[in-house]
Amino acid sequence: MFYVMIMHLSLLRRRINLSFIQFAPAFGQVERNLDTALRLARRAKSGIIVLPELFNTGYAFRSKEEVRRLAEPARDGGTCRTLVTLSKMKSSTIVAGFVESDRGSFYNSAAIVSKGKFLGVYRKLHLFHKEKTWFSPGNLGLRVFDQDGFKIGVMICFDWIFPEAARTLALKGAEVIAHPANLILDGLSQTVMWARSIENMVFTITANRVGVETRGGETFRYTGRSQIVSPKMKVLARAGTMREAVASVSVDLGSARKKVIFGENNIFEERRVKEYHRSFGR
Ligand code: ACM
Repeated sequence: MFYVMIMHLSLLRRRINLSFIQFAPAFGQVERNLDTALRLARRAKSGIIVLPELFNTGYAFRSKEEVRRLAEPARDGGTCRTLVTLSKMKSSTIVAGFVESDRGSFYNSAAIVSKGKFLGVYRKLHLFHKEKTWFSPGNLGLRVFDQDGFKIGVMICFDWIFPEAARTLALKGAEVIAHPANLILDGLSQTVMWARSIENMVFTITANRVGVETRGGETFRYTGRSQIVSPKMKVLARAGTMREAVASVSVDLGSARKKVIFGENNIFEERRVKEYHRSFGR
């Protein structure tokens, strides 16, 4: 009886709400974007909530000077402090993208905060297009945060095209991958993220933005379609391509622990790592 109760409690503990928030940040208007995020967050259920890449500043920078002006330190910067407060109000873990300044360098980062505490940052490893001019590539590796026993990995936008990013997070134990994004390649990433979910048997939350930015001689049309995908590649929630949106789904994160795709096949135990490495010598 006691054993059954403990089992029951531990199963209960694995249930959590996963949410994305999708909107169109206004370039350079940090206060307005924070207000929008706070307004939309009211509609998300408590749990793990993901906001887009660079949600507080917008994406299409025109100069390093703009980057410098809009960058903030992690932890004590205004955006991180607001996120910490929001995470306390929502009793939630929040992952959200911002421009981080640290010792004269700028990073395309995501803050992870939980229930009133700042947990850390992930700095985007794979920079897209002109980001290479504005930001330094991430130097903190891929990070999995353990919050209340839930293992949350973080990657940002263009990291999607490098399967190593999601794979590394999953091998490090991530059960859910938070994926703040500003996607412009028409629906490609959203489809590929289905594969990232099933090949690693993890939940993925892609929080993309919508809207159009024309700045610096370029026009970016952001593709929306934020989504939450299960370890068996079921799309549990999906937004449209044009409008702001919030979605929450209740999941059992325990289902991302078992890596059994069918019957006798455990996709992590059956990786032939030595053979993969030996293949290079052939
Ligand atoms: C991107 O990495 N923001 C496309």
